[in-house]
Amino acid sequence: MHDTLLLFGATGDLSQRYLFPSLVHLWRDRLLPPAFRIVAVGRQELSDDDFRAWLRERMAGEVADDQTVVEELLGKITYVSVDLRDETAISTALASYADRPSVSYLATPPDLFVPCAKGLKAAGLLEGESRLVLEKPIGRDLASAREINAALKACLDESRIFRIDHYLGKAAVQNLLALRLGNTLLEAVWEHRWIESVDIFVGETAGVDGREGYYANYGALRDMVQNHMLQLLALIAMEPPSVLDADSIRDEKRKVLRALRPMSNDDVASRTVRGRYAAGVVEGRAVKGFVHESTVETFVAVETYIDNWRWAGVPFRLVTGKRLAERATEVVVSFRPTSHWLFERPRRGRERPNRLRMRLQPDETIELGLMGSLAAPEWGAMELKPMSLDLSMSGSPQRRIAYERLIVDVLRGNQTLFVRDDEVEAAWHWIDSIETAWTQTGQPALEYPAGSWGPSEAERYLPPTNGYRPGNS
Ligand code: BG6
Repeated sequence: MHDTLLLFGATGDLSQRYLFPSLVHLWRDRLLPPAFRIVAVGRQELSDDDFRAWLRERMAGEVADDQTVVEELLGKITYVSVDLRDETAISTALASYADRPSVSYLATPPDLFVPCAKGLKAAGLLEGESRLVLEKPIGRDLASAREINAALKACLDESRIFRIDHYLGKAAVQNLLALRLGNTLLEAVWEHRWIESVDIFVGETAGVDGREGYYANYGALRDMVQNHMLQLLALIAMEPPSVLDADSIRDEKRKVLRALRPMSNDDVASRTVRGRYAAGVVEGRAVKGFVHESTVETFVAVETYIDNWRWAGVPFRLVTGKRLAERATEVVVSFRPTSHWLFERPRRGRERPNRLRMRLQPDETIELGLMGSLAAPEWGAMELKPMSLDLSMSGSPQRRIAYERLIVDVLRGNQTLFVRDDEVEAAWHWIDSIETAWTQTGQPALEYPAGSWGPSEAERYLPPTNGYRPGNS
């Protein structure tokens, strides 16, 4: 296991809220090597002690109470101040850490990936077994993602590049695969002949507060759909790999992403909705709307198709939004009606259980909606009623825990839960088709009140089930 971590963007939000607290917990659980050292790299001029004091204060409340563990981890940190746009300065400042294989983690905006990687390369920090970790977003469109990927490849081999999508670190997301591939019952019906539609829903109550600058340049489609949601879609739709190694899984995911049907100008008008939250009340609290000169969306609903043998004609609906009524991530697989309906009630198509609903957060539950009979003596005919088999799982959906898992995987060199260059590019190819069509047709982001389920025009895209909304199911 590598024992040197160079963390770029050490004073940023991600490092402070997720990465350092994860490292504290990993240290507490003895999942880091004894000689572990952290080189925190940031732009601000700070001494080691200043940085530690700053981090100690920021982490209070984010980590387990045990202050001894926190102090032990803080003691492993050296702070290096450097301009992250200046590759020569990076190389000079960090060359002394090239004495053993390391992991360099770029928790920075994408425009710094290339100068940082070049500086690391010049310092000898990407040689041998050393690894490079990147946070999403990888670029802002296909062209910029390609540029980044090509520049990184000139610095080190793809087998040592780890692109993080923290959704893949969530236990519940890995469980999607386990469910799909470990159950004969599901394996047998996992295709267009038996599945009518698939819904992927990621609702958040949080707004874009504090990240306006970044968000205004990206919007929900690039921030959530390009990565987290398409990764969920790929795991649900991919062909089973012959073995569970990193490249076999990533090969299959890439094939699905490449088979996504690009959207034309007509398609976006009839199969996408953009929204943007206005003031409202979320979880009992009055909140402001997202006001910014950019026209970016905070909500998106898309209906798409995967043009391959398995999924021909099956709509996949992806919906995500900020400041919605509830925080919930769900995947709902709706099966086709039985071929011949024998019963009097409910009529075919009226009530439709035959659904597998996998809720990934905030709690992890799996619910299989079935039909059963409630034979009451006063009824002349057999009446069917929707029933469900429920399973609550114990995996923690927290983002920090996902990061803990992913950090350990990087230190061990396991790429299974990381995204490969060609997957990123295939995802951008499809996203670009939507962005281009939106721009060409001038499709507006429709206002919705914070605390609602998005614009009313998006109603039909919301996940089904009897009167379903994540909150009142
Ligand atoms: C991040 C997005 O990647 O994921 C955020 O940039 C979003 O906008 C977050 O809020 C959601 O992650 P989680 O784990 O809280 O569902």
